[in-house]
Amino acid sequence: MPINTISSSSSAASSGADAALEIVVLAAGKGTRMRSALPKVLHGLAGRSMLEHVLHTANQLRPKAIHVVVGHGADDVQAHIAANCGTDNLHWVKQTEQLGTGHAVRTALPGVHKDSMLLILYGDVPLTPAELLRSCLSNAVAGPALITALMPDPAQLGRIVRDANSGTVESIVEFKDATPEQRAINEINSGIMAGSAEFFNDHLSRLKTDNAQGEYYLTDVIASARADGLPVTGVAADSPYEVAGVNDRVQLAELERVYQRRQAEELMIAGATLLDPDRVDVRGNIQIGQDCVIDVNVILEGEVTLGANVHIGAGSIVRDSRIGDGTVIQPHTMIDGAIVGKRCSVGPFARIRPGSEFSEGVKVGNFVETKKTSLGAGSKAGHLTYLGDAEIGAAVNVGAGTVTCNYDGINKHRTNIGDDVFVGTNSTLVAPIQLDDGAFVAAGSTLTTRVAEGSLAVGRARQRNIEGWKRPDKR
Ligand code: UD1
Ligand code: CA
Repeated sequence: MPINTISSSSSAASSGADAALEIVVLAAGKGTRMRSALPKVLHGLAGRSMLEHVLHTANQLRPKAIHVVVGHGADDVQAHIAANCGTDNLHWVKQTEQLGTGHAVRTALPGVHKDSMLLILYGDVPLTPAELLRSCLSNAVAGPALITALMPDPAQLGRIVRDANSGTVESIVEFKDATPEQRAINEINSGIMAGSAEFFNDHLSRLKTDNAQGEYYLTDVIASARADGLPVTGVAADSPYEVAGVNDRVQLAELERVYQRRQAEELMIAGATLLDPDRVDVRGNIQIGQDCVIDVNVILEGEVTLGANVHIGAGSIVRDSRIGDGTVIQPHTMIDGAIVGKRCSVGPFARIRPGSEFSEGVKVGNFVETKKTSLGAGSKAGHLTYLGDAEIGAAVNVGAGTVTCNYDGINKHRTNIGDDVFVGTNSTLVAPIQLDDGAFVAAGSTLTTRVAEGSLAVGRARQRNIEGWKRPDKR
């Protein structure tokens, strides 16, 4: 059964969009503690920026619109998202001065339809499951709902104050404003909140800055809702990681590990053996057949499909490729943009570049590089070879040290090799060139012209032996 570790496209299909839902993503902050020229939300987790993760999750809820509040590094953020995501339902909102989370949401409100439901997310909280967000939304009917989490060490996060008797959420107190008793509470505010646009319009306009940080706190809408007698629902996350925000690179690395562990578990549940689940990295969408075996320090990137019984050796990287059933990728092999058939053997130390296509039973060995090259069934290139812009038939043997000379300094040229061709060791094939079926190339040949079917090509200087030759003397 194939699995999707991150399901595909991040663009929201406008069809089936929930017309009543709009999402605001806060991403204007500076992220000082990252100590980086890159805006915080563009820092990567599993090969994608944190903001991409958030937008991807947001789009799973099929909102009518996503409003991203940007400030610091706004141009970089917009350019990055334009280059990497579908943006048809994205609206950029510029918050020139960061006056607080309440101010940030208020900045986005003019673009939100008054009858919409609103969900507030954070560009630096990358691992929230869509299911948890749905649950928050479905609890925000009569009044707002927010996602909370229990943390053994809640540090500087906002604390959830509940009524001692009824248990209802009464307010959120920021750490800097909290009493020692409130600081002892270990239920925290994730920051994620849902409510009607009408609710936010009303309550955000009442915010004041009479707090320890002199900011407009989004969190104050909770006490304000309660003062109006509205119910407030706290929806608890299963794990603190689901709502964990990233403030520095240590926290980012911690979430990366959490995420990778989850991906590894999904692979194992789908029927793969991971020799060490803590030493496999997934940076994309993996479809995997049963009984694959993945050795340590393997990286799977982009869109990768592995058939059944695929073995991937230690230290290999597979990116944007399809690997057929029963194929063995030997250690330290890089496969990028390739289609590898069934029961092939690739590597160790092979570099398979984009446009490589191997049929069933192909063997490509150590220090072989292929690019835009197809190899027919059962063909072999065992060692030390460069095959670029080549079409190679079935049952061909490419000897060690063979090079397709595909580039004349200006243009690329193709090499065509038929079936059952034998290319001797250390041959130089100057493209454009054609070797017909059954051709045989003598070792060490440099070939520039076509070799007809069944012919032997010898393209090398004849050997001379000089009898009784005297070596030079030492002077
Ligand atoms: C906020 C919450 C706190 C919660 C914590 C969870 C408030 C007042 N406090 O605190 O209860 O526990 O998040 O991480 O909301 N941002 C803007 N514009 C602004 C200010 C912030 O876009 O003017 C963005 C930041 O880029 C960031 C997010 O909002 O992504 C949260 O802001 P931050 O300053 O980190 O809030 P905290 O003090 O952590
Ligand atoms: Ca924060």
